[in-house]
Formats: sequence, structure tokens, C-alpha cells
Amino acid sequence: MPHAKTSPRTRAAAWHRVHAHAEALNKRHMREMFAADADRAARMQARMGPVFVDYSKNRIDETGLSALCELADASHLRRAIDAMFAGAPINATEHRAALHTALRAPRTPALIVDGEDVSAAVHAELDRLSDFAEAVRDGTWTGFSGQPVRNIVNIGIGGSDLGPRMVCDALRPLTHPRLRTHFVANVDGARITGLLRQLDPASTLFVIASKTFTTQETLTNAATARQWFLDQGGREADIARHFVAVSTNAEAVAAFGIDTANMFGFWDWVGGRYSLWSAIGLPIMLAVGPAAFRELLAGAHAMDVHFRTAPWRDNLPVLLALIGVWYVNGLGARTHMVAPYDHGLRRLPGYLQQLDMESNGKGTTAAGQPVEGATGPVVWGASGINGQHAFYQLLHQGTQLIPADFIVSLRNPNSPPTHHRIVLANCIAQAQALMTGRTPAEARAEMQAAGIAPARIAELLAHRSFPGNRPTNLILLDALTPHSLGALLAMYEHKVFTQGVLWGVNSFDQWGVELGKQLARRIEAAFADGDYPADADASTRHLIDLARAALAET
Ligand code: F6P
Repeated sequence: MPHAKTSPRTRAAAWHRVHAHAEALNKRHMREMFAADADRAARMQARMGPVFVDYSKNRIDETGLSALCELADASHLRRAIDAMFAGAPINATEHRAALHTALRAPRTPALIVDGEDVSAAVHAELDRLSDFAEAVRDGTWTGFSGQPVRNIVNIGIGGSDLGPRMVCDALRPLTHPRLRTHFVANVDGARITGLLRQLDPASTLFVIASKTFTTQETLTNAATARQWFLDQGGREADIARHFVAVSTNAEAVAAFGIDTANMFGFWDWVGGRYSLWSAIGLPIMLAVGPAAFRELLAGAHAMDVHFRTAPWRDNLPVLLALIGVWYVNGLGARTHMVAPYDHGLRRLPGYLQQLDMESNGKGTTAAGQPVEGATGPVVWGASGINGQHAFYQLLHQGTQLIPADFIVSLRNPNSPPTHHRIVLANCIAQAQALMTGRTPAEARAEMQAAGIAPARIAELLAHRSFPGNRPTNLILLDALTPHSLGALLAMYEHKVFTQGVLWGVNSFDQWGVELGKQLARRIEAAFADGDYPADADASTRHLIDLARAALAET
């Protein structure tokens, strides 16, 4: 009886089971759970190709996982996944599909959406990108003086920056030896002017990346780059060899002065934060080459297939999503930490911040009602090794519950074994320490063994005891390659999607960022016209006065 199984009452009952069991389990220590269940570690792990996840160090048991799987069923997760992959307009507020999975699907079988062969269009653009990237890489694409390209400057922000920037860093060992990639996002002119001082216009290629081609920060930086190019001896006619655009808005690209023959396109059904697989990935393709870029796509596609087909209990994105929901809604966690231990992945937390927080930072359901419980957590993090020496203290002994993902590669050909063994040991040790903690009895025994005087032990005992029971997912990559990276990123995309389905929000719009943009334009205009925007409050007016006075000095 599918209807009975998925009615709102069933969903409410599933939520109730999740809440009730989370409360019941709240006091239980993971140490006890491990001690009582010899198979726990072996059972609570899953793999997809090069990605292995040990999720046993979570404050959850079989009953909790079953309750969450029932919640997934009651939230129509299967139907939602099918709708996304089929290109249904699931981003209802923008009347769009969210079809980033089509960007990494093979050429065949064809994916037909609204009578259009989406795969053919995707692969035609991929082929154009590949031809261009090959020409830049092999030096047949030259600048105005006949020199090959040496520096690539991507000008973009948000999804038109974070994904390509993070992947270029992660795959840096594979970068073409002649090419350097730079990323300009902040409209603080210190960034672009500082960078331009180091560059030679004759061997620099600018990639202006903006889905909408209306983003103020990007267009301002792009105009500065264009003017610099002309001031440094480039002519209008040379712009075509040095500026390309990546966008869905051909009209605005042409209005900016870039020939649309030098534009690489994508589609409105690619959300900005899901766009690194599209032409927005051009800097990646330029740096590591079309073959490696296609490997990245293939890794993501393998995760797509896994997400579509694996049962919930073997399904990496679903498992991570369910466990995340357990903490947010069951145990009241408000943040989620991501700690990559590979140096190459150090920008992953920033990328995941946009992916997760712009997708699920919502207080209104897809049906337009206020959400009933908490939704997306604050996602944060940094390099795990560096974090250990900075903020992990709070994870170990602070008063907040902070679930964490630790990510590390088992093999790292770019790090000598003397280094890599330390990375692996620390990552594994931190997960263990967070989980087990150290009881007062253990702390006392350790201090006694070290010959510390009883009075001093009494003073230190509380400080040197750790509560433990702090959860982590350990995400192991066989090695950091284009393929495993593609799979890892797609895993997180689908985790975010799954959570959005469970919370009932539209993960593909971002109306919350619009108001600030509108007001910034009005305030900027107010600097010049000497007036205040009609809706400016007293504080805002005062700040406008201060800014106006400072600007008048320059
Ligand atoms: O302001 C938020 C946002 O719209 C993001 O969603 C997007 O990734 C970013 O700005 C950049 O947008 P665009 O690629 O259109 O310049």
C-alpha cells in the first residue's frame, strides 16, 4: 500500500520515532555501544569505489538507523531522486530542473528532457571546451605577441569560484608545468591589482565566469582586468585572444565586450554551487587537461549511479545525510565540521559551506510553509592537522556537540612516507580520542604511572579527563585523484539533496542572498547622490555618512 506508507501521518510518525529514539540514546556512550556489539565497526561502514566511509563512531545504533531509513521512505526520497535525475522542475521557485548530474553522464544513452537531447548539448559543449583547453595547453592558442598562455585568471565568485578553485588546488600536482591558475573573487581591488602587478598581459588568459553575468563583484573585477590589459599594450582587437567568458547569458557577455565565439555556455538548470562540472570547470580543464577533467566527471557519475541504486543502508550520501539529520534534529547539533587531512583538500570546507548552507539554509518548506524543526547546520572547518593545533580543544572538551567529517587519502604519492604516516596517524587518533575520551580513572592511572604527586593529581584530574562520545565520520579515499575527488564531491552534493528532501525544503534556490544585493546597489548609489535610500534606518544612515566621508577623501 504505497499511499498508506507515505502519507503525512506516516512521515510525522517517522519523525516522532527519530526524536524519541535520539532522546533515549542521548545518554549512551559510544564506548558502551562498541563494547556491547563486536560487529559494530564492520557493519557500520560502506564503500563506493575509491570512497570508504567508517560511520561507526556516531552516537547511533541500528534502531536509530532504521528509524531514519523509514523517515527517508516516508519523505519520498526515492521519488525525489528519480525526479531530480529525470530533469523534473524540482526547483519550483525558479521553475527549473536541477540537472547537474547530466553534466557528468556519459554521451549515451541520450537524456531527453522536454523534447531536448540534454546529453548531446552537454557533450557538444564539453568537446568545445576540450578543444580550447588543448589549444591553450599545447601552445597553439597564443596571445597577441605570439606567446603561449602562462597565467590563467578566473574572475568569478560563489559557485563560479569556489568549486574550480578548490579542485585546481586539489589536483595541483597534475597541473601543466607552463600554466598557473589564479582566482579573483573579492571585489576589494587590492586582490586584482595586486595580482595584475605580477602578470604579463601577453601571456595571460582571463576567464570571466558568471552564470548570470550580472554579478557586480565579477563584472567590476572583469572591467578592471580589461582596462589593465588595454593600458598595458593590448588592443581591442586582441581581447578575443585574452578574454573568454563562461556564462548562460550570451547577451550580457556580448554587452561586456567579449565575442560570444569566445563564450562557453551552460544551462539554467545548473545551479551555481553545482556548476563545477560544466563550463565553469574550464580553469580545471585548462590546468589538468581534458582527460583528467573527464575522469573527475566519471568519478562523480559513478557516485550518481551509486546514489540512485544502492539501498539506503549502503548508500554513502544517504547515510551521511541521515546521520547529519540525527544530530541536527535528534540531538540538537547546530554546526557540522569538515576536516580534510590532505593538504590538497584544504579548500574543501569553504566549498562545502556554499554547497550546504546556500542549499539548505532555509526556513520555509518547498510548499511555502515555515519549517517545523531545524534545517541546515553551520558548516565549517579547516585542514584537520592545522585545526588540531588551533580549535580542536573545543571539540574535545567544549560544551557543544559538533559532529565532524574527517577526510584523508590512504595513499599520497605527493607526500613522502615519513610525512604521510603522521597525517594518517593523527587523523585516526583524533577520531579515536573524540570517541573514547579519557575517564577520570584512566587519567588518574596515567598520572600515577608518570609519578605525579597525589595532591597534584587531585588538582588536575577534572582537567585531564575527556568526556568523549564526540562523533566523527571517517572518509577515506584510496588516493586523491580526479576520479576519487569527483566521487567525493558528488557524494556531498547528494548528501545535501537528501537532507533537503527530509527537511522538505527546496535545496536549489537562494532567495536569501538577494536582499543584501539590492540594498548594496541602493547604498552605493546613495554615496554619490548625497541622499539616503528611503528604507535606510538610523544606523544605516550613520554608516552611509561615515563611508561617504571616507570615500570623499580618495
Ligand atoms: O549571490 C549568490 C550567488 O548567486 C551564488 O548562488 C552564485 O554561485 C554566485 O552568486 C555567483 O553568481 P554568478 O555565477 O551568476 O556570477
